[in-house]
Amino acid sequence: MFTTRCYLPCFVFILWISLGLLHIGAADDDLIVDKPVTENCLECLCEAKSNCNATKICVNGACGIFRITWGYWTEGGSLTLPNDTSLSEEAFTNCVNDPICAAETIQKYMYKYGQDCNGDGRIDCLDFGALHKMGNLRCQDELPYTFGRIFHKCLKRKERDAKSKESSITK
Ligand SMILES: *[C@@H]1O[C@H](CO)[C@@H](O)[C@H](O)[C@H]1NC(C)=O
Ligand SMILES: *[C@@H]1O[C@H](CO)[C@@H](O)[C@H](O)[C@H]1NC(C)=O
Repeated sequence: MFTTRCYLPCFVFILWISLGLLHIGAADDDLIVDKPVTENCLECLCEAKSNCNATKICVNGACGIFRITWGYWTEGGSLTLPNDTSLSEEAFTNCVNDPICAAETIQKYMYKYGQDCNGDGRIDCLDFGALHKMGNLRCQDELPYTFGRIFHKCLKRKERDAKSKESSITK
């Protein structure tokens, strides 16, 4: 359990640094045009997919904390670790088993395919969840039950956390 707890803050911190998002007063909902997915959203994606379990593992061809498939990785630009080339056989597994490389892949995928899957007039984390789970052609479908339950619960918790942080600042 504590590995998950320890892992998440570190992951988010490294992500901030590496994506250059660490600017003072940044709100979570800041939309960075070519990086549409917020840290909170990334955390809920991995929670729903793998409980953010960082054990390097592939389940039915889907690997890493976000359980990314080869096809998804390709559509997300075939990113590689600095020491790899996209031609190497392990480039896919090495990237998607690396939280940063995997998160960058998601950003690219969502930048490319971002759409209003649920028809609520916005493109937000709910749509990214559907895109991540079902792909760009089927994202209007209903979310599979287990994924949807964990994902929505996580988003609600993030919302609550943000609200209580806000009210503790204004007090
Ligand atoms: C992570 O997944 C591995 C492999 O499925 C499992 O053995 C391990 O117990 C999991 N770790 C946590 C913290 O859930
Ligand atoms: C690149 O680095 C990763 C992790 O540091 C390692 O698992 C992988 O085998 C390396 N790839 C090559 C081609 O050396």
